[in-house]
Amino acid sequence: MLPLTHLGDLPIEEFLRDYWQQKPVCIRNAFANMEPLIAADELAGLSLEPEVESRLVENEGDILDWRLHHGPMQEHDFAKQRDYPWTLLVQGVDHFVPAAFDLVAKFRFIPAWRFDDVMISYATKGAGVGAHYDRYDVFLIQGEGQRRWQTGQVCNSESKLAAHKDLCLLQDFVTEQTFDLHPGDLLYIPPLVAHQGVALSDNCMTYSVGFRAPSHSEVMGGFADFIGQQLSPDLRLCNSLQPQPAGEISANDLANLRAVINQQLNDENLAQWFGCMTTEPKNSSLDYSEEAMDKAELATIMQDAYGVIRVAEGVRLAYTWQGDGGMTLFAQGEAIACPPEATDLAMALANQLVIEVTDLACLITTEASQALLLVLHNQGWIYFDDE
Ligand code: SIN
Ligand code: CO
Repeated sequence: MLPLTHLGDLPIEEFLRDYWQQKPVCIRNAFANMEPLIAADELAGLSLEPEVESRLVENEGDILDWRLHHGPMQEHDFAKQRDYPWTLLVQGVDHFVPAAFDLVAKFRFIPAWRFDDVMISYATKGAGVGAHYDRYDVFLIQGEGQRRWQTGQVCNSESKLAAHKDLCLLQDFVTEQTFDLHPGDLLYIPPLVAHQGVALSDNCMTYSVGFRAPSHSEVMGGFADFIGQQLSPDLRLCNSLQPQPAGEISANDLANLRAVINQQLNDENLAQWFGCMTTEPKNSSLDYSEEAMDKAELATIMQDAYGVIRVAEGVRLAYTWQGDGGMTLFAQGEAIACPPEATDLAMALANQLVIEVTDLACLITTEASQALLLVLHNQGWIYFDDE
């Protein structure tokens, strides 16, 4: 599952240099012969599940009258006859549909820790969720049907919102570009760029591959919380030993304070927090439990030399190197120390997501690498697939 080298004719280096985080770009036929990732009735079926996040937007009447319903949906939500347009939006489809997880792998020219999820929308003709902006980078891929997208001004937290009680819709939208997307076309939209899409046909399916970035406020707050939880309350800040007026907070007091903070502000702490935070599961209600496998069963699979080992759908992996040649592998918000003998396996899993069993043999020649494989397998984060 190799990442794309081009988006249509556009080399990825040029996309990253000229568009990523800067301006929208539409790529015609980025996915030639696009096969639908999921049928509309299966998408509706997913939205009935309690662990799946979904929304339904009904465009009846004026924009301010549009209705937003949060999932899980009920059968009657889809049996209902509507004479107005509507959209079903389902988050985290990559957790449930292997083809959606594989689609994400094509976007791994962006670091995996930036990835958020794949959202799929189903819309009837004329439907749309209104003009808005997201704080995410998003690749909008037309799966089925047609949709007209318009991109507009760059917004910020001061941008005026319409007085809708549930939907975050822009009060003003200044159209800059219009694109009619057909199956296989892609529109990249950077964070804060206003956009709106309207389905030009029934059965309009859009796949949104979203990338998030923590805000500076989340970085500062998250790191401080993480470190705070590890420090003993016995460690206390000392006051300056220099005589000073009782009312003053002196430069020496501030220097002591800075020393306490600097002591924690090292790459190891940063990496531990960042790896755990960015690999935390997007959907924590999913149960990945897998039947435990022992060394003997692993040996049998290796002897059969058939199939692949896959990172389970929705599982987030990332790693950082340590000074001693080992690494920390982060999986689903947990840190796993990998000695040097296990790093090739950890890298292959985190970078490739799928490994042929025949290629796995040379990655698990040591006790440490076999142990790592079994830990990940027995958590349900990787699985053997013989199809
Ligand atoms: C949609 O697919 O209808 C909306 C996606 C978006 O604008 O973020
Ligand atoms: Co959007």
